[in-house]
Amino acid sequence: MGTKGEQDFEAVVEFNTGSIKPPLWIARAGSACDKVGNMGKSFDIGLERLTGMGVGEDGQPQEGGVKPPLQDASGDLKIGPYLNAIETKSAQPGMAVPPGSTFYLETFGCQMNDHDSEKVAGVLLARGYRQVNGPEAAKVILYNTCSIREKAAQKVFSRLGELRPADEQHGKSFNTEDTEEEHRVHRDGRALEKNHPSQRKIVNAAGGKIIGVLGCVAQQEGEEIFERAPWVSLVCGSASYRKLPQLIAELEAGNRRVTGLDTDTDETFETEITRRDNPWRAYLTIIEGCDKACSYCVVPFTRGPERSRASASILEEIRQLAEAGYSEVQLLGQTVNSYADPSARKMRFSELLAAVAEVRGIRRVRFTTSHPRDFGKDIVEAIEAHPTICDHVHLPVQSGSTAVLRAMARTYSREEYLEKIALLKAARRPISITTDMIVGFPGETEKDFEETLSLLDEVQYDSVFAFKYSPRPNTPSLKMPDAIAEEEKGRRLAILMDRQREIQRVMNERLVGETFEVLVDGKSRRENQWSGHTSSNRVMNFTSPEQELLGDYVQVKVVSAMPNSLVGEMVGRTR
Ligand code: 5AD
Ligand code: SF4
Repeated sequence: MGTKGEQDFEAVVEFNTGSIKPPLWIARAGSACDKVGNMGKSFDIGLERLTGMGVGEDGQPQEGGVKPPLQDASGDLKIGPYLNAIETKSAQPGMAVPPGSTFYLETFGCQMNDHDSEKVAGVLLARGYRQVNGPEAAKVILYNTCSIREKAAQKVFSRLGELRPADEQHGKSFNTEDTEEEHRVHRDGRALEKNHPSQRKIVNAAGGKIIGVLGCVAQQEGEEIFERAPWVSLVCGSASYRKLPQLIAELEAGNRRVTGLDTDTDETFETEITRRDNPWRAYLTIIEGCDKACSYCVVPFTRGPERSRASASILEEIRQLAEAGYSEVQLLGQTVNSYADPSARKMRFSELLAAVAEVRGIRRVRFTTSHPRDFGKDIVEAIEAHPTICDHVHLPVQSGSTAVLRAMARTYSREEYLEKIALLKAARRPISITTDMIVGFPGETEKDFEETLSLLDEVQYDSVFAFKYSPRPNTPSLKMPDAIAEEEKGRRLAILMDRQREIQRVMNERLVGETFEVLVDGKSRRENQWSGHTSSNRVMNFTSPEQELLGDYVQVKVVSAMPNSLVGEMVGRTR
């Protein structure tokens, strides 16, 4: 199949994900609600590097990496087909829904944010709110934001600019006929983009609505958001989400402005009810925050210190998820393998993985993101011993040069990283390895960059998420000399992506003729065409004459391969 055919097929699969309605709701122990909602959404973000962007609409490489085709188009914004499906989702049966109590929640950034939003939505739905798929109809508008790179952080101010009420316009109306200048929010001389046409209609609409900024930008900018956008009434960072119900209650009681900005916490955010978006794969945060202090990264500032959830509570939730029909769980954490059980059981991460793998009904266990420093042989042994733990490890390296790794404060050298890779390659079954790379870090020489390219050749990654270095507030790398010009970063990114695309093409071609188990999560409008993921998290588009396969595990034989996906035909089912 040619490139065009590949794109056609993948695009159709992406936006037509079927109408199966498995249970989507699960209540924690003690909650009155169980399986109270259904939703026809299936939208997979592939290798879920929420922050990658890949190839742009013009076909040119953009910030971000070679990404699986089912990732959303921007890579940074998680709105999509599934939001239509939740438009009319109402609160728990039997709960009075106060008239007009609707919310719109838009999520930017990583899987952790996606999952935080599932919990935030759960909190609101449990209070009696109804979720709508656009800000126009919403009483409460929430943006769950990302600040990992500047572009992502800017997006929220663009959104807020479009919600600016009339009396904040300095006598000007704010409509789509205005010049581009007037659409922009300016700060520190930076012009912010305008986008998302659906929002342009809601000019002057802030009156009477509660507008909230959540997540990393909230934590980073704090109360300054009120100064830039006085129509905002809630600013809450992720380390304070446990306070959200109380903050929302204060807003409902008429408080004009509320904030949750502490990062000084040892608590995790757990809710009575989580509204999960994916009907088969359940995300579960096991460790929040990050203590690693990589010199380029805002996460330790925005998400606070590492705090792990007790193993018994994790396992109990997974048992309930399995009972509710989820067959795949993905354990989440910025550094998931730094998990430190706070309970007396003191389970190691590899022990927790093994325990999760043994929960009856769970067929696939994934985890992301692992930090190389805490990645040991015990994790590989857990994978080997438990076929339910997927054949995939995401192990961000960031650079192939030891000098750059040192400047990044990554705590390992190229050689030490390669020792971890050797552990994975020596495993008794093949394990797919993916990574994150940053190009154009301050001081990165041409020779350093060459080392990054040679690392690609040496490791043979199944997928790479590559980013141009983006200077972030408060981070040590902000003050480092020898910044690399944007143009040069772009050049290096394009070279890296070309090299990696070729590696993936060759590796995927070797898989032709092999048969893989696939969890079916997409249905094409075209007859007999489906898509799903292998245990190694490869996207598989395949043909089958079956009427209904969504959520099933099937055997698919690969007939051809593309750099980002495989094409196959179904040869049987696994029960
Ligand atoms: N600039 C570019 N990329 C970054 N990442 C984190 N911080 C930055 C930054 N300042 C990338 C890293 C990380 C991924 C989630 O985002 O590769 O692994
Ligand atoms: Fe950021 Fe490094 Fe922590 Fe990852 S490990 S979140 S890159 S500080």
